[in-house]
Amino acid sequence: MTVHIGAEPGQIAETVLMPGDPYRAKWVAEQFLEDAVCVNEVRGMLGFTGTWHGNRVTIHGSGMGMPSLSIYANELIRDYGAQTLIRIGSAGAMQEKVHVRDVVLAMTASTVSTPSRGIFRELGYAPCADWSLLSAAAKAAESKDVGVHVGGIYSSDVFYDERPDLTEQMTRHGVLAVEMEAAELYTLAARYGRRALAVLTISDHLLTGDALPSDQRERSFGDMVEIALEAAFS
Ligand code: ADE
Repeated sequence: MTVHIGAEPGQIAETVLMPGDPYRAKWVAEQFLEDAVCVNEVRGMLGFTGTWHGNRVTIHGSGMGMPSLSIYANELIRDYGAQTLIRIGSAGAMQEKVHVRDVVLAMTASTVSTPSRGIFRELGYAPCADWSLLSAAAKAAESKDVGVHVGGIYSSDVFYDERPDLTEQMTRHGVLAVEMEAAELYTLAARYGRRALAVLTISDHLLTGDALPSDQRERSFGDMVEIALEAAFS
């Protein structure tokens, strides 16, 4: 047990998928895993371990934002030995060519600040995805009936952003989408020599105001989970 995770030693798999929402973790475990067991419910943050096509995998919530993700990723890596961590979550599109329901594979994650920011001081550290996971996810995505984009994203500290000028500059510089966790996940994976990737479904569009209708959310989320699982075990 750690401060925030109640799992016994050995109850966390080497491969961990991390949705922000604990109830999404439950849904993924129910839909995709065999023999899933709940291994954490401390503070309502749910984690489940089971198998997918014979491969052991844990689905564990990260909570929203980098401070929350940092707690769980640190403990999963340092105390439970997680080797491969894949964020599965939603993002807001920042380019015309990226549409609601599309999947974005985050090659890099720009950020103003992460919980790790203090380490780097004046250095503009560039958090990036693990190449083996990224290339496997791009290949897995080819077989899905969904638009796929590979490129840079922005990990924000705020959902309700008061910096339209910054959003404009990121759009101008090709940033595909905004979410709130990947930069810290990539930074922690680099620090501890682990593999990380963020596979994201576009739920809303910052330029057009479009949003994913609720009846399509489940199907879109399913595509993303399959891409993440296929990439992890390719
Ligand atoms: N996640 C999904 N949509 C988002 C948005 N517009 N901003 C930040 N995180 C998001």
